[in-house]
Amino acid sequence: TGKFTYDPGFMSTAACNSSITYIDGDKGELLYRGYPIEQLAVNCDFLETCYLLLNGELPNQAQKDEFVATVTKHTMVHEQMQFFFRGFRRDAHPMAVLVGTVGALSSFYHDSLDISDKHHRDVSAIRLIAKLPTLVAMAYKYSIGQPFVYPRNDLSYSANFMRMMFSNPCEDYKVNDVLVRALDRILILHADHEQNASTSTVRLAGSSGANPFACIAAGIACLWGPAHGGANEAALQMLEDIQKQGGVERIGEFIAKVKDKNSGVKLMGFGHRVYKNYDPRAKLMRETCYEVLNELGLHDDPLFKLAMALEKIALEDEYFVSRKLYPNVDFYSGIVQRALGIPVSLFTGIFAMARTVGWIAQWNEMISDPEQKIGRPRQLFVGSPTREVPPMSKRG
Ligand code: CMC
Repeated sequence: TGKFTYDPGFMSTAACNSSITYIDGDKGELLYRGYPIEQLAVNCDFLETCYLLLNGELPNQAQKDEFVATVTKHTMVHEQMQFFFRGFRRDAHPMAVLVGTVGALSSFYHDSLDISDKHHRDVSAIRLIAKLPTLVAMAYKYSIGQPFVYPRNDLSYSANFMRMMFSNPCEDYKVNDVLVRALDRILILHADHEQNASTSTVRLAGSSGANPFACIAAGIACLWGPAHGGANEAALQMLEDIQKQGGVERIGEFIAKVKDKNSGVKLMGFGHRVYKNYDPRAKLMRETCYEVLNELGLHDDPLFKLAMALEKIALEDEYFVSRKLYPNVDFYSGIVQRALGIPVSLFTGIFAMARTVGWIAQWNEMISDPEQKIGRPRQLFVGSPTREVPPMSKRG
């Protein structure tokens, strides 16, 4: 005791040096490799963003073409993965399926798991980025009892994903540019977020020398929790519950419940450990929400109206103001995904698909750091002092 700093939840401990993502929580600023998220969301697509996160610089046209060609070459998963999927119950949560199937990828690539070899690391990164959409779409198709749809490499990353989700042998998915762009934006906004819980999980798992597929599976497990990636699912469910109970008129009652500490109810999609002014991703997501609902002729979508009314009331309420609680990216991303036709249970899977590049970039940075050590937090021991083991007859 007294030897270690007690810092539950890592409120004030930096566990690494990183040059990937910068957040200024007071200013509401998010930068990938120095570029503001607002500019990346408007000027770049998801694979350009991936290239930036992995390599530190935006690609020129030739670099981009080569990167896209390399990723698309790896979009298929081994045909045997089908049997792995078929071992799951149809009603399994897609995140349970993803934890398993992504971890299982390491069994297919054991010939390129030497993490000290840069080429092995690079090809693992590409494989993960390329195969995640295929696995997420397979998890969905399996859950609804439809045949798996193979990737098509003449389509963009996001258009290919939408097609794998929504095509079936009777009807091909017609690419809608506004919807594809909205998905691409969701992916860009979720691509990295410095040392959040799942990224720290990936780093900690990787610090032992574990292979990248196993580390990303660990990240997916962490992301699943409702306080992290599961929040988009929880936020949409919350909006649907309020809507069922009467909609906008019931907001006051709901807010009162949130403020009652004994209720255990939180306003999902609100609050953030780092952003204490606003979450810049939430602003961009709300814009995308408008675009998608307009494109689909859903201007009067009751959930969107409810979300905006709830945001307005919360932002004027002393409870939220004094605690600096603002909408985070997940407050609106659920509404966009629902409009795209993505089922609620798959929302966190989409988040995993986006964050894979961040996880792998952070993992790579850690592996390449000469100061890298196995992650081994200490503890302040508060249990029993040394004592003798009593015989069975004397135990209470
Ligand atoms: N609704 C009601 N009260 C809240 C909320 C909320 N969403 N968030 C925080 N508070 C209260 C909290 O009870 C505490 O009150 P008091 O000081 O009276 O005890 C105060 O605000 C400070 O909160 P905290 O729990 O100390 O903050 P934290 O940094 O530990 O938690 C958080 C951050 C994101 C886990 C939390 O705000 C939360 O649970 N939000 C809802 C879930 C959510 O939307 N998560 C998505 C985060 S963004 C996407 C991602 O990174 O995955």
